Amino acid sequence: MSPTPEIRIFKTSNELFVGAVADFAKLAADAVQKRGRFCAALSGGSTPKGMYSLLAASSTPIPWERVYFFWGDERYVPPTDPESNYRMAYEAMLSRVPVPPQNIFRIPSEEKDPELAAQQYEQTLIKFFGLNSGEFPRFDLVLLGLGPDGHAASLFPDSTALKEASRLVVANWVEKFKTHRITMTLPVLNNAAVVEFLVSGKEKAGIVHQVLDDDGNQYPSQMIRPRNGRLVWLLDQAAASELSHVNQIQTQPQ
Ligand code: 6PG
Repeated sequence: MSPTPEIRIFKTSNELFVGAVADFAKLAADAVQKRGRFCAALSGGSTPKGMYSLLAASSTPIPWERVYFFWGDERYVPPTDPESNYRMAYEAMLSRVPVPPQNIFRIPSEEKDPELAAQQYEQTLIKFFGLNSGEFPRFDLVLLGLGPDGHAASLFPDSTALKEASRLVVANWVEKFKTHRITMTLPVLNNAAVVEFLVSGKEKAGIVHQVLDDDGNQYPSQMIRPRNGRLVWLLDQAAASELSHVNQIQTQPQ
C-alpha cells in the first residue's frame, strides 16, 4: 500500500536544512540502535547540498563510524568533475566528517561504458546487502531532490529506466541532456524505509503543486512511494506556495 506523504513546510530553506539534519540524526540513531548500521543513499541537487553542508557543520551527534553512504544517482562523469554528485557530497560533507572511507560507496561513473558502471554498482549493492536473486536492498534513508520536470534521482519523464522491474541500478539515457545518467531503479527506491524529498525555492512551486496535488503517475517523482516505508517531503514556504491545501498542512513551529 502506498504511504500518505508526510509534508512538512519550513519558513526558509535554512530551516528546511535544519529539519533534514535533525531527521538524519534521528534515523541514524534509531537504525544503529536496532541494526548496528545506518545506510543512506544521497542525491545530487542544490537543496540536498545545503543539507549536507549543514550536516557537516552541525554539532548534532552522528554515529559516523556506522553510517554507510551510497548514491541514488550519478552523472556520467568522473568523480573529479564539477558535475559529479559524489564530488558535491564529498566537498560539502564527507570530507568534513569522521566517516571511514570504507563506508563510502560511490558509483564508478569513470567507467568507459555507463552500463558497466551500473552493473558494477549493482554488484556493490548485492554484496554489501547480501542479496539473493530477486531481492532489493532496504535503505534506511533515501534523500532526493526534485527536478523542474518532476524527475527524481535520474529517473526522467519518459525514460526507459522507469519501466525497470528487476535491475537495481541502470544506465539511463536522458534525451534532454543527450547523456547517460546512472540511477537506482524504482524497485530499489520503493523498498526504502524512508524516502525524503528536499525541495526549496519559488521556481519549484509549480512542479511541487503538480506532483503533490495530484495522485497520478505522470511524473517520475510520483512513482516513488515506498511500499513498506515512509514518504516525507520537506519544503520551504516558497516551494510550497502553490500547494492547494497548504493551510491545512502543519508548518514547523518557528
Ligand atoms: C542530480 C539529481 C537530481 C536532482 C534534481 C534537483 O543528479 O541532479 O540527483 O535528481 O536532485 O534535479 O536538483 P536541484 O535541487 O539542483 O534543482
